[in-house]
Amino acid sequence: MHVIHLSAECYPAAKAGGLGDVVGALPKYLNQLGETCEVLLPKYQTHWLDTQEYEVVWESSAPLGHEYFGFKILKEKTDKLGFSLYVIDIPGRFDRPGIYIDPWSGHGYWDEFERALTFQIAALEWIKARDGLPDIIHCHDHHTGLVPFMMKECPRFESMKGIPSIITVHNAEYHGWVNSEKASLIPPFNPGSYGLLDWDGQLNPLASALKCSWLISTVSQSYMDELGFQSNGLEALFVQEKGKSKGIVNGIDSEVWNPATDSLLDINYTPRGVKGGKKKNKAVLIERFKLNPELPTVAFIGRLVREKGADLLPDLIKAFMHGEHKVNFVLLGTGDPSLHEIFARMQGDHFGFFDATLEYNEKLAHEIYAGADFVLMPSRVEPCGLNQMYAMRYGTIPIVRSVGGLKDTVKDIDEGEGYGIRFDEFNLQEAEHAIVRAIQLYQDKEKFSKVVSRIIKLDYSWNSSAKEYITMYNELIEKT
Ligand code: GLC
Repeated sequence: MHVIHLSAECYPAAKAGGLGDVVGALPKYLNQLGETCEVLLPKYQTHWLDTQEYEVVWESSAPLGHEYFGFKILKEKTDKLGFSLYVIDIPGRFDRPGIYIDPWSGHGYWDEFERALTFQIAALEWIKARDGLPDIIHCHDHHTGLVPFMMKECPRFESMKGIPSIITVHNAEYHGWVNSEKASLIPPFNPGSYGLLDWDGQLNPLASALKCSWLISTVSQSYMDELGFQSNGLEALFVQEKGKSKGIVNGIDSEVWNPATDSLLDINYTPRGVKGGKKKNKAVLIERFKLNPELPTVAFIGRLVREKGADLLPDLIKAFMHGEHKVNFVLLGTGDPSLHEIFARMQGDHFGFFDATLEYNEKLAHEIYAGADFVLMPSRVEPCGLNQMYAMRYGTIPIVRSVGGLKDTVKDIDEGEGYGIRFDEFNLQEAEHAIVRAIQLYQDKEKFSKVVSRIIKLDYSWNSSAKEYITMYNELIEKT
């Protein structure tokens, strides 16, 4: 089966978050199971993309409204990622360093819609021109959300009408909506179909994908259930399209995320040597951040945004600095500039208990997974969440809010043979209580090390979820 994935991110070529991890891993696992998956990605100016060797496979131009833009399709020569990676070079749109955000201003690019649209048009132009059409077109998030509409409604892509399209929703908080006038930039279509692009008076790429794709999948079953009452305005649409929706929990790339072989770690360890291995990694972390070696260390790794509950952290951390239960906090991530300011200030105030690294740093993330005792994810919304699975793979106990994929992957230690600590409501009291439970667990050495030994052996790799995707693909192909 030939499947083309279209995505704005793909690790290690271009990653801003979990979407990159998933698109960098799922196609590889699908290929290991005998499928033929390829990934199409914009050619940004990231370090990885700038340092590969490519073969130019196609060069053309296409209309964007009344203008034409030129583009090239380049194939990464070696297939070293476990799949063929094709990047689309669109001068003037993607020859910039940021994926979504301009690193100089900290804001999103002004032409976000045009960038995404040129990528999608160029991708369809090339797929149409290639020898043989694919069996499935698999889109990810709103950046590729107009593809199902264009395949269905634009005469220019008439030959692709019969190919099943899938939209996987990794994050329904972002829809990519713009003023409806921008519809004139899309290749011509019957104006009577405009309704398929519209949601609430705007041109909404995610809504359009939900309406036009053959199937909607999202990255956990619980998130699928939640979208019907919490999806930033698309609730009614998710309910309406429920019949063609499916939740498949993400896996992790257990080759990249393996404490025994991880090249980003200075000290590797196996499940058998987890106790000693984590102790040494913790010592490195404690030294680096000048923390108290006697205390449990709780880490937060991720985007500093509301969705991830990052705004709860300042008060939560302060509560422990002044309270009777003591704990070290380590934070790694970037996001909301006002939170950056707060954390930078707190660092000085709570030296020895709290440290924040306000940057994107893949190596440090791996080192923190290896060296921390707990990883905290107090998310308001969490479609799947990968960090809790990375943490467990490294023998680090997750403390999570019971929401979305966190609910589906972390069993509470009180449920017997559990993996982590869960709390239900998004508020300071519950999060505080969860951390107190973590401290108590840490003090019960025997129980703590049992949980660590249990979680490091769990299998969260893509193997089983990739099989579910194949079943889903086959069901769709049968409908053609
Ligand atoms: C988004 C979601 C996250 C999910 C990831 C990959 O980043 O916020 O929960 O794990 O996509 O699907």
